[in-house]
Amino acid sequence: MTTQHHHDSGHRQGHTHDRHGHGHGHGNDHSHEDHGGKAGVAELLELEAAALGPYSDEIADWAAGLAAAAPRTIVDLGAGTGAGSIALARRFPSAEVAAVDNSPHMLGRLSEAADRHGLGGRIHPLQADLDEDWPDIREAGLIWAASSLHEVAEPDRILADAFSALASNGLLVAIEMDTLPRFLPRDVGLGEPGLELRCHEALARAGWNAHPDWREPLERAGFRVAAQRSFTPEARPGEAAGRYAHAFLTRIRRALDGELSAADRRTLDHLLDAGNPDALANRGDLAVRVSRTAWAARRP
Ligand SMILES: C[S@@+](CC[C@H](N)C(=O)[O-])C[C@H]1O[C@@H](n2cnc3c(N)ncnc32)[C@H](O)[C@@H]1O
Repeated sequence: MTTQHHHDSGHRQGHTHDRHGHGHGHGNDHSHEDHGGKAGVAELLELEAAALGPYSDEIADWAAGLAAAAPRTIVDLGAGTGAGSIALARRFPSAEVAAVDNSPHMLGRLSEAADRHGLGGRIHPLQADLDEDWPDIREAGLIWAASSLHEVAEPDRILADAFSALASNGLLVAIEMDTLPRFLPRDVGLGEPGLELRCHEALARAGWNAHPDWREPLERAGFRVAAQRSFTPEARPGEAAGRYAHAFLTRIRRALDGELSAADRRTLDHLLDAGNPDALANRGDLAVRVSRTAWAARRP
């Protein structure tokens, strides 16, 4: 495959913008680039993977069923800490995976994870800012973009570039979270029931996880949408759920100042204080509920 490996070439981050004027996905905070914001997001991605298990495997399996042929070159756009890259390398043992991200911190964590899984030889971290230019990759069999298309400034341009970088009959899989992850029962036994829903509504107003239905942009770029499916992985029971809930709610708490009533903020602070017997860290009634939509689109 043809790739330029920028991972060790230092920062090539360009500007630290937030053109959408909001935190995305797990809530990026570009003002703390790279070790404040991205380290926090990286930790959440890893906690999510620990709580949910290898849920990306299921989506990779689905993609394998739709791929015209076993891909030799796979591109993971906005690869993060590598959940997708690892699932793809496992599912397609003859493929090389280019894991593209603009964050050296993410790529460092991804490399460690790839090595831990014995896949370091086939997963190639590639530091590139997709907002600046498309990495030098051609004739890809599969391009994967999980919770990343809504983070780039010009998704239409990225989709057009992805279209050109795919081999004929190649597949692009776009994945987005349908909602932010949910952890709490409706009534936490404190304050007014429905706290988590109100938090999510406030974050949605601030533009968190805002993304379109990608079908139309995909078709505009020349793709044929082959399938669309939703995935709702089951959480693994255990303390990983509590750790993920604590980290996620801590992160969103900062964004909720001024967005949530004082009473709700007090309830949230109470839940986040591990010294309280009914704090997140000490509860047995937490779940991890997530849902994702995946679009699979073919270059005709
Ligand atoms: C919410 S994370 C998703 C990570 C991973 N795909 C997953 O699903 O676990 C989005 C990732 O996209 C990366 N990203 C955002 N904008 C980017 C850009 N312009 N160029 C390259 N990567 C970008 C971020 O650094 C982050 O790692």
